[in-house]
Amino acid sequence: MPHLPQVPDIFIQQAREAAKDRTIDQNTQILKGIHTTDYLNRQITRNKESVTTRIQQSGAMSPEWEQWCRENIFSDFFETTARISTGASDTHGAHVDKPAKVRLYYLIDQGDSTAETVFYMSPGKSVVHDAESHTGPNPIHELDHDKLIELERVQFPLHQWILFNGYVLHAVEKNSSPRINLTVDINPSTFRFLIHPETT
Ligand SMILES: [Fe+2]
Repeated sequence: MPHLPQVPDIFIQQAREAAKDRTIDQNTQILKGIHTTDYLNRQITRNKESVTTRIQQSGAMSPEWEQWCRENIFSDFFETTARISTGASDTHGAHVDKPAKVRLYYLIDQGDSTAETVFYMSPGKSVVHDAESHTGPNPIHELDHDKLIELERVQFPLHQWILFNGYVLHAVEKNSSPRINLTVDINPSTFRFLIHPETT
């Protein structure tokens, strides 16, 4: 979404500080109900081998950042955080974001130059998941990558906002380094479309 402004340097620095790699703190994520112990320690199967997975940690940004987002990015977001992917692995493991159905996403540090976001589907399941009526593992995730169908793989641009559907199964692959982003999470019901009349 190149029409949205780049994030000022002061907030980039704030995001790097907020999302510093740290030995947390799984307990906080578990207590907040964000993730379960099982999810944080999950192993996937890839090429018939068991592989450990990376995790995302999030860090709080300032009220000034939230204000900047309201004025410049989206006025009705429900959460914005700085996030870092860490762990001794090169895969995040296929998952559906929780609770973000839709997020504006701004990549600050890619991690490895090979890092790619890969979108998948499970055979027999819908591409876009319905997390609200889902009763299985929480958040929705798939452990057996050998049975997944790859839909697309992309390298997100650096320092540019993109719109991301978190309810499609996805994983960052081929990355073993810290990867930092900002997210602005949106409830799709708050979307408004501005349609300008065509001018000639
Ligand atoms: Fe995700």
